[in-house]
Amino acid sequence: MENNALYYKSLVVFGFAIFVVMLILSPKGHSESPVVVKAQEERIRQEMISISRQLSVTCNECHNVQNFALDEKKSFKISKDHIRIVETLKANGFDGKKGPEANCYMCHQGKLKPAYKETERK
Ligand code: HEC
Ligand code: HEC
Repeated sequence: MENNALYYKSLVVFGFAIFVVMLILSPKGHSESPVVVKAQEERIRQEMISISRQLSVTCNECHNVQNFALDEKKSFKISKDHIRIVETLKANGFDGKKGPEANCYMCHQGKLKPAYKETERK
């Protein structure tokens, strides 16, 4: 008898806890997420325009413009590595605070294939 009461009590408490959690989560999910997604898309778009300019290429050098998420192009794959290089440089002093901030232009200087040996200078 007492066990049963305890069982129902904890059931009610548990149910209430779930209700509270859902109450906390749901309004956020509705009011914030589209705004956040929009802001993220805009940030990616600006970043992409910027790296295109730094290499003097257009979007389709790296993307199948029918589906920007595909990674079928060679330049896309290399860029993923080079984005990581830039992040590493930013995390190791080239953060723009005391000197230059690392970016693609630093090496590429407006070329898709930058010269990287002295003998390759033109
Ligand atoms: C030099 C190569 C390069 C160029 C040029 C480039 N992108 Fe990208 N783009 C990438 C890479 C690499 C990623 C993936 C980034 C990641 O996963 O962190 C990406 C990701 C994206 C995404 C996100 C795709 C997803 O997974 O949802 C969009 C959208 C996008 N690019 C649009 C553009 C547009 C628009 C242009 C032209 C203005 C452009 N890109 C030019 C390399 C490039
Ligand atoms: C530390 C210098 C450095 C930085 C920073 C850098 N790159 Fe590169 N990248 C190179 C060098 C050097 C090559 C040429 C490699 C070769 O010819 O084999 C190259 C080649 C590439 C290529 C291949 C070109 C081809 O067709 O062979 C792509 C695409 C590229 N980089 C994208 C990027 C993007 C996008 C960024 C910025 C997010 C970036 N790189 C930042 C040094 C750099």
